[in-house]
Amino acid sequence: MIEITNLHKRFGKNTVLSGVNLSLQEPGIHAVLGPNGSGKTTLIKSILGMVCPDQGSISIGGQPTGGQWLYRKDLGYLPQIAEFPGNLKVGELFRMIEDLRQQPAAPEPLVERFGLQPFLNKKLSTLSGGTRQKVNLVLTFMFEPPVYILDEPTTGLDPGALIALKELIRTRVGSGALFLITTHIMPLVEEMAQSVIYLLEGKVYFEGSLKTLYTLTGKTHVEPAIAAIAARHHV
Ligand SMILES: Nc1ncnc2c1ncn2[C@@H]1O[C@H](COP(=O)(O)OP(=O)(O)O)[C@@H](O)[C@H]1O
Ligand SMILES: [Mg+2]
Repeated sequence: MIEITNLHKRFGKNTVLSGVNLSLQEPGIHAVLGPNGSGKTTLIKSILGMVCPDQGSISIGGQPTGGQWLYRKDLGYLPQIAEFPGNLKVGELFRMIEDLRQQPAAPEPLVERFGLQPFLNKKLSTLSGGTRQKVNLVLTFMFEPPVYILDEPTTGLDPGALIALKELIRTRVGSGALFLITTHIMPLVEEMAQSVIYLLEGKVYFEGSLKTLYTLTGKTHVEPAIAAIAARHHV
């Protein structure tokens, strides 16, 4: 569903993506791992058209994304850092985004799932980081798109919300959705990922299933397996 070919991106002298190739065809969770600054957010923003790559191509569902924007209506995007107009109330934000997208949305079950009912009449500026993240998750999931791109979705979430998020992702995967998720939470990856992509200094050092990752490295957990791959490349 998402095909990335030879993607390059530099910011000034800083080479951030250096020939990334990725082919994500199966529904399920594809986890992008890599240390801070390895280019995960830049990769995601390139898929969304928020960063303009210097070289390479991206297609979604067989359609090239370059210069296009309609494809974005099929994407649910959770940014790593979301900026909200602070004076707006939570309920107003949901209605505003629904109006802007002009697509039917179902925020209510999500509001319930994340326990946001008491916050619907609160201004966004008054919310804690974790509650903002829940609001952000409702915005991402409420249009029920076939493809989800989540940049560190667990940031600030309490354990209950994390369970709610995992259930929600599982349900959508059950209906055939594809997720591209960046995270530093290894148990989440071990529990749920159908494939793992390890990005380091803008290059993909591993792409494949957990089983392949474990077989290749002789490890039984993601963290040591990734460390083994990094060591193999002397990086
Ligand atoms: N808009 C930008 N302008 C300049 N440099 C940027 C910009 N966005 C990201 N970078 C740089 O690109 C590198 C990778 O960043 P990023 O993609 O956010 O990594 P990650 O999400 O893996 O932590 C970092 O060195 C960061 O400073
Ligand atoms: Mg990032």
